[in-house]
Amino acid sequence: MNKQPDMRVKIGSLEMKNPVTVASGTFGYGPEYADLVDLDRLGAITVKGISAEPHIGNNTPRTFETASGMLNAIGLPGPGAAGFCEKYLPFFENYKVPLIVNIWGKTVEDYGRVTELLDAPARVDALEVNVSCPNVKEGGALYGTDVDLFRSVVDEVRSKTDKPIIIKLAPNVADIKRFALAAEECGADAVSIMNSYPAMAINIETRKPELANRTGGLSGPAIKPIAIKLVWEAAQVVNIPIIGMGGIYSSEDALEFIIAGATAVAVGTANFTDPSTALRVIDGIESWLAAKGIAAVDDLVGTVRG
Ligand SMILES: Cc1cc2nc3c(=O)[nH]c(=O)nc-3n(C[C@H](O)[C@H](O)[C@H](O)COP(=O)(O)O)c2cc1C
Repeated sequence: MNKQPDMRVKIGSLEMKNPVTVASGTFGYGPEYADLVDLDRLGAITVKGISAEPHIGNNTPRTFETASGMLNAIGLPGPGAAGFCEKYLPFFENYKVPLIVNIWGKTVEDYGRVTELLDAPARVDALEVNVSCPNVKEGGALYGTDVDLFRSVVDEVRSKTDKPIIIKLAPNVADIKRFALAAEECGADAVSIMNSYPAMAINIETRKPELANRTGGLSGPAIKPIAIKLVWEAAQVVNIPIIGMGGIYSSEDALEFIIAGATAVAVGTANFTDPSTALRVIDGIESWLAAKGIAAVDDLVGTVRG
């Protein structure tokens, strides 16, 4: 019988007891899933995007099922930083699971403000900075695809907190390595790859776009090979850890990300069909490592051959 593998990983100073979190926006703020999943088994919880002020989001329809995935243009509705701290943080006092709060802003100053507001509560363990939402007009995609604007956001967030910051990269850039390196140079603790991919679907009878926002972000199994390539490319140039995501439905999917160079992974769209996917992924990684005689999940990171 092989020894139990060491599943612990570190994202900056954030210690995760296993490498699996959930992708922002696919797991609510946490409490919604507490009856379905033992939250304390997760490596971390990543919550839906929070801005400095409350935000309403886009009109409906906001989601549309596609072949091997889904389109969404939710538009980042949320209670704002103060609302989040008041409404959701007390719930987490009963849990040990690390909490990663995903943040976004319409301006560089907005990113700074939301960072300041979430720097204060001790229960917030890390911030994931969304510079790559394809579904909000202001900021969003622009900050993730223009390297100078990108740097200004990372600098601003870094200047307002000592907590680990994870920069969530946009997939639709010519060279992901430039953005991963820029994040590292600006003092980010990690990057996460990838956000949903800008996409569109049209109803041929009405000739109208299927989403009220017209365009949205594609997620699910369809994007996994794109995400694997981006993680692999980024892993060749940065020393900071990468959190990989995009179409993870099984432990085999997660292992592929880890071999490509991801230190941790996030389960996203799969939560909508099976909320316990992340737990299955944790168990599957552990038994695969044990079967291969690999002592620690860290030993597998970036071990792609050829
Ligand atoms: C309905 C929905 C809402 C999302 N909301 C956010 C969000 O608030 N912030 C963010 O950074 N990413 C958000 N994402 C992107 C996911 O976190 C993830 O990066 C993407 O869906 C790829 O992973 P997946 O294919 O496993 O879903 C959202 C995705 C979906 C499907």
